[in-house]
Amino acid sequence: MKHLLGLSDVSAAEIRQILDLTAEMKTLIKRDNKKDSRLIGKSVVNLFYENSTRTRLSFELAGKYLGADVANIAASSSSVSKGESLIDTVKTIDAMRADVIVMRHQNSGAAKIVSENVAASVINAGDGMNEHPTQALLDMFTILESKGRIEGLKVAIVGDIAHSRVARSNIYGLTKMGASVSLAAPATLIPTGIEKLAQLPGSCAVYTDVEEALVGADVVMGLRIQRERLKAALFPSLGEYAKCFGINDGRLRLAKPDAILLHPAPMNRGVEITTSVADGAQSLIESQVTNGVAVRMAVLEMLAG
Ligand code: CP
Repeated sequence: MKHLLGLSDVSAAEIRQILDLTAEMKTLIKRDNKKDSRLIGKSVVNLFYENSTRTRLSFELAGKYLGADVANIAASSSSVSKGESLIDTVKTIDAMRADVIVMRHQNSGAAKIVSENVAASVINAGDGMNEHPTQALLDMFTILESKGRIEGLKVAIVGDIAHSRVARSNIYGLTKMGASVSLAAPATLIPTGIEKLAQLPGSCAVYTDVEEALVGADVVMGLRIQRERLKAALFPSLGEYAKCFGINDGRLRLAKPDAILLHPAPMNRGVEITTSVADGAQSLIESQVTNGVAVRMAVLEMLAG
């Protein structure tokens, strides 16, 4: 692999390879001394045009734990604010001989365009409403760690599917790994034909009744209502959304008794998820954050190691 732009063009075998390497990286970050030397002499630049807490910080820590030199640029504090184009910006970074550019951008397809214009490896850290591959990989690793398998599981993804790059990457990844995916949202938040992204016909189903989607699920994944991307009122109010689609204790009980609860975060507590569910016994949201570092170490090692 030269780049990681999305899970649409990554095979099940490659996903397995990344998840195996993530397990190795997880043992490394559990040590007192987390420092490893396998990326010494390599440079990683985090270029973020959109805000981030988890992804940006975990890529920085992942690079540093593996011994790489890591630099961070936020678009707001770079020459982008003087009108420099995306291509000029990444060519500048490339001219400094960065080995890896980790990129988040508000436009779908931005990471692909960058990959066609630089010598460095490019990792998509989220492009518009398209893909967020390392988020889906850490979600799959968290499922694997908890359930011991992905194949044959029922994963219910509930929330703002329309604006979610996390949903798209998970549909590609989970169905390649043999899971079945149920998507639940108001009809206005479900793009027509999204179930066709599934890699096996019939392995992704769409529901506008959240309770129907949750019945018998092994994994429940809540998604954030992306208020910053809503251009029109796609549901009556946040309160109405919480009442009809929010994941609460009663709805979680429709899933299997040993179901796990995931959310990529940041969360709108009280909107798509209640605090008692987010902080409850079935929640693995904090494990997802830890696994985010391990999965990003694995991806950096695969691309630059
Ligand atoms: N899940 C996720 O991408 O979080 P950040 O926006 O904080 O990076």
